Amino acid sequence: MLIHSASQLLTLAGGPQRGHDLGRLGIIENGAVLIRGEKIIAVGTTDELRARYPKEPLLDASGCVVMPGFVDPHTHVIWAGDRAAEFEMRLEGKHYLEILAAGGGILSTVRATRTAPIESLIAQTRPRLLRMFAHGTTTAEVKTGYGLQTATELRLLKALLLLDEEGPLELVPTFLGAHAIPPEFRDDPNGYTDLLCETMLPILRQWWETHAPGRPLPFVDVFCEKDAFDLEQSRRILTRARDLGFPLKIHADEFENLGGVSLAVELDAASADHLVKTSDADIAALGRSETVAVSLPCTPFGLAECEYTPAQKILDAGGILALATDCNPGTAWNESMQFVLALACRTMKLTPAQAIAAATINAAHAIRRADRIGSIEAGKQADLLILSVSDYRHLGYRFGTNLVRQVIKRGRVYSVEMGYYRTA
Ligand code: NIG
Ligand code: FE
Repeated sequence: MLIHSASQLLTLAGGPQRGHDLGRLGIIENGAVLIRGEKIIAVGTTDELRARYPKEPLLDASGCVVMPGFVDPHTHVIWAGDRAAEFEMRLEGKHYLEILAAGGGILSTVRATRTAPIESLIAQTRPRLLRMFAHGTTTAEVKTGYGLQTATELRLLKALLLLDEEGPLELVPTFLGAHAIPPEFRDDPNGYTDLLCETMLPILRQWWETHAPGRPLPFVDVFCEKDAFDLEQSRRILTRARDLGFPLKIHADEFENLGGVSLAVELDAASADHLVKTSDADIAALGRSETVAVSLPCTPFGLAECEYTPAQKILDAGGILALATDCNPGTAWNESMQFVLALACRTMKLTPAQAIAAATINAAHAIRRADRIGSIEAGKQADLLILSVSDYRHLGYRFGTNLVRQVIKRGRVYSVEMGYYRTA
């Protein structure tokens, strides 16, 4: 299939974009892409590719931007229930961590998730994944973390493997058994840390080999935060995970700076995420590392707070910046990367081009898949979007409506209508 006549084809070619290099879109005007099976075969101008491949079935993208599918590298999209009542409580003045300390927040979703059978978890999660896909996300990282006990955490992983198999959205799982201290360990956070290190992580390692043979190991993540896991507990969990061969991630500096970013850099984590209260020393460490800084602007927005990731400082330091939704029932129930871009432009002064690169090639690097997805280059997986606009700056500029006309996942075309999709 030859997609042709794109007013702007954004290739994002050339790998992850560090510091102020961010925003290199690699635009080809009147662009074309040749796809065969699940792969991109050739990229160029319409004239070039039509001359080289005259017999190919055609897909006309005139008047449209064609770009790589969004990669959402940080979500908690598998959960049961909702927290609408807490949203109201927070607006009336209760703080997020106060609600958690009182046994609500994450722990209220844990209660709903523990009692939900796998069929119900899948049924509640599927429409969220379909909305993500319809808004242009072609690969999403998804964290467990609403089980906080071995059986439920593994049930969440099992559900994720099944949902990934079902498609069309491709899922990259992360084990977040260290999302909160479960009620059984309320007075013994070190006891739960021991359980994670000595029992849960080794069981996960074995379970993965039987249930997902041949698949790359999931990431292991920790919520390094006041009232969750302190720096020492986070270090123990992540070090143990690394020794077992798992790639790492961390939630750091969402509410307080505990030093989680420097820990992530030291342990060569794939990413450090949230980064609101990040110190200058931590930013300098990021700038010298391969650890991607994942900013989640929906979270302060969702919490009605006004402080965001110091993105400009991270770029000044030479850091690799990515964007994600953080889609979760507590702080940020939003499935759309387009909305994330719009927020990032306004709250962190990213240009649309920078936001697009942060949401594609750099986001792919945050889940260590930049060799396969995140750009339009020969040899890569055919994950593309056809937008209903002719100028890429409409991403960021516009918000609250869906600009995606078609999503192409592994070479298959899905049309988007009224926020949902159907097979073409
Ligand atoms: O990234 N901070 C921890 N985890 C989520 C919130 C999860 C929840 O509140 O359910 C976050 O914001
Ligand atoms: Fe998160």
